[in-house]
Amino acid sequence: MKNLSSGQIRQMFLDFFHEKGHTIEPSASLIPVDDPTLLWINSGVATMKKYFDGSVVPKNPRMTSSQKSIRTNDIENVGKTPRHHTLFEMLGNFSVGDYFKKEAITWAFELLTSPKWFGWDKDKLYMTVYPKDTDAKKYWEKVGVAPDHIIEIEDNFWDIGQGPSGPDSEIFYDRGADFDELAPDDPENYPGGENDRWLEVWNIVFSQFNHTPEDTYEPLPRKNIDTGMGLERVVSIFQHARTNFETDLFLPMIRKTEEFSDNKKYGVDKQTDVAFRIIADHARAITVAIGDGALPSNVGRGYVIRRLIRRAIVNGQRLGIKSAFLYKLAPVVGETLKSHYPEVLAQRDYIEKVIHSEEDRFNETLTDGLKLLNNVIADAKTNHSNQIDGPTAFKLYDTYGFPFELTGEEAAEAGLTVDKQGFEVEMQKQKDRARNARSSAKSMGVQRDLLVKVKDASDYVGYDTLDVKDAKLIDIVDDEKLVDESKSDTVELIFDKTPFYAEMGGQVADRGVILDDNDEKVADVIDVQHAPNGQNLHTVKTQEPLIKGQQYHLIVDRLFHSRVEKNHTATHLLDQSLRNILGGHTQQAGSLVEPNYLRFDFNHFGQVTDEDLQKVEDLVNKQIFNEIDVKTVVTDPKTGKKMGAIALFSEKYGDKVRVVSIGDFSVEFCGGTHVANTRDIGLFKIVSESGVGAGVRRIEAVTSKEAFRLLNNQSNELKQISRSLKVTQLKDVPTRVSQLQDDIKTLETKQSSLEAKLAGKQAEDVFNAKQTVGQYTIITGIIKEAGMQQLRQLADTWRAKKLSDVLVLGTGSGQKANLIVAVTDDQVKNGIKAGDLIKSIAGNIKGGGGGRPNMAQAGGKDPAGLDSAMKAAVAWLGNK
Ligand code: ALA
Repeated sequence: MKNLSSGQIRQMFLDFFHEKGHTIEPSASLIPVDDPTLLWINSGVATMKKYFDGSVVPKNPRMTSSQKSIRTNDIENVGKTPRHHTLFEMLGNFSVGDYFKKEAITWAFELLTSPKWFGWDKDKLYMTVYPKDTDAKKYWEKVGVAPDHIIEIEDNFWDIGQGPSGPDSEIFYDRGADFDELAPDDPENYPGGENDRWLEVWNIVFSQFNHTPEDTYEPLPRKNIDTGMGLERVVSIFQHARTNFETDLFLPMIRKTEEFSDNKKYGVDKQTDVAFRIIADHARAITVAIGDGALPSNVGRGYVIRRLIRRAIVNGQRLGIKSAFLYKLAPVVGETLKSHYPEVLAQRDYIEKVIHSEEDRFNETLTDGLKLLNNVIADAKTNHSNQIDGPTAFKLYDTYGFPFELTGEEAAEAGLTVDKQGFEVEMQKQKDRARNARSSAKSMGVQRDLLVKVKDASDYVGYDTLDVKDAKLIDIVDDEKLVDESKSDTVELIFDKTPFYAEMGGQVADRGVILDDNDEKVADVIDVQHAPNGQNLHTVKTQEPLIKGQQYHLIVDRLFHSRVEKNHTATHLLDQSLRNILGGHTQQAGSLVEPNYLRFDFNHFGQVTDEDLQKVEDLVNKQIFNEIDVKTVVTDPKTGKKMGAIALFSEKYGDKVRVVSIGDFSVEFCGGTHVANTRDIGLFKIVSESGVGAGVRRIEAVTSKEAFRLLNNQSNELKQISRSLKVTQLKDVPTRVSQLQDDIKTLETKQSSLEAKLAGKQAEDVFNAKQTVGQYTIITGIIKEAGMQQLRQLADTWRAKKLSDVLVLGTGSGQKANLIVAVTDDQVKNGIKAGDLIKSIAGNIKGGGGGRPNMAQAGGKDPAGLDSAMKAAVAWLGNK
């Protein structure tokens, strides 16, 4: 066996297919672009849908890649088996309507067995085929695979939901009897089954169908090849590792985790090994996914990240790790992947920060979860139940990130079991909810085979001119047919050259008109999109029929175009300003460039302060006022990167790229159109800044005329304000407002001191009016503008000053009246009880009350009865 590192193996795969005429594609981001059916890129082919469904024709129909992928359907197996992961790399070769079964099989065999390449022993290989697929079987035999190494399996059909699918042939590597962990009669114990001995390393899909949202299978326009080889598994074979985890892709994280653990070592105990592996696996997935722009949250992708982080932390606790550690694995992951994914290490600070803050947050939640679990256990014991129910176990799992086994272990310690079936029912419900939420979205477009076949060249000349007099009309699509003369009101047109920009990179399509050779308008251009072979496809409303082969005069709406351009260049300035002010992590997460405004989404943690936002706006305007030339060069991506051009992490670039530079302030890959000099933008104003999802912020802004309009409106509003404030100069408004605020404050202070004085005065008057009734003294009084609170305060003062034996106070206004009665402790002992007294007088205010012997209160509806209540109190005391 050759001694190869994971980096060398990956490269060998790509080199092999490069020799066979394939273009090496870079790995796409884990976050799907324009594909709402996928949470994550889960295979190489997931990034190729646009080619497979015919909406875009690739430059080269042969492509190869190593694609980072995430699948979470096997998450429970991670760490327990040698071969399951959340993040893995899929090596693949793809043919879009080019070669098919024969070449795919022949080349696969050559790569695996040729001494120049992998050089594996062919006797160790087993192939499974779809029984009806006699061709596949025939080609395997032809290259030299023994018939008893070819196994027919009924469900050899690759299909994981919507998208490309088809019969497949899987390749297994026999790791030897030593790896046989199953009983001889286990139904999975054969090459092709789920076992450790025969390891599936490669899947070759003869991709012919589109699995639709309606669960039908529509033939694709052409037959394609889609293959997937699991890099981690292949590395385990080359590196003689018992599991994928003892390879150079995982061991560095395991070793690092040992350092944090409470003296635990990998390879000593089965249980702790599982924990080490889960941590290594999840650390990889979160590091790479966060680098690609995912952030922990409670929904969708963010939820997956959150769960992975929590599972890793809980497993860390099993190893005795008490404080945040996971973030320290991020740079280790970066090292293991740096030969193919240098961007991970480059973003290490940002990734560490995200993981660290989530770890801190979870450590708090974990404490809460443990509390809940302890309560549940205590409740179960009180109720003499010996089981924790399914929904509770699921809540612990779902809300607090407790793996089912952890709940089980904690429960077992308290002598309880957990209802696993009930837990699974809840789990299934959640999966169904997730599936239903996604199933209405389209995975692959309706194939426009018609346009796939249109290969005529069409030049976009709009970078240089917005007016083309002699554009030849080369294709007319009317009612999904190619015609020579248009009939319908709305048709699609392709010209040999066009000044009309097709929607791309957030910039909207141009609008304009089409004239004939008499300068008569024949059509309005209402939309422009890219056809599968890249031509600009104009959707037009016709006034006259258009004729193929004729020349037309194409005129872009200049004003519309230049407004869009201003906003586009401003977007670049904004992107760079955000990076300068907030930090390099503020990657673009989406943008929209319209004529009347621009919208820019970017990744950022937390809120943007008003001061920072002002700094960003100032920095953009500074570039505008500095009158900087905007320059464009067309080059290859490597040179572009050397120039320091910002690339969107989710986008792939062709071999020719445009690089747009604004002095040395901003350099970006961009196919859009821009102003010639920043002064053309005139002015930039931010309209709003807000959050639009976990860790994604949105800025909306305007330029030029719209910015002027915004400022004008604001200044009119200010004028109105100044008029009502009666100041003549706008600049005096803030001073006037703060003066007014000061005045209000002074008045408020005055008012409350007056109120206090008034209350004190009233109390004094009341307290002075002591009456003697028989052997007792009593004070009664009605206080104006008071509530129960004040009455209680007065009663406290009365008690402290020992002013009489009994106090009766009332207050009221409108429909509400209150009474309070207080009695000294000495007189309570003599049988004078506040509660009795209040009961006998509350009727006067149409209410009721009660309380303790030394203090009672009542509420009623009739303040007019307060006077008689006081009299009744005196009478009551007289009868004592
Ligand atoms: N797309 C195929 C798979 O994922 C190759 O197995």
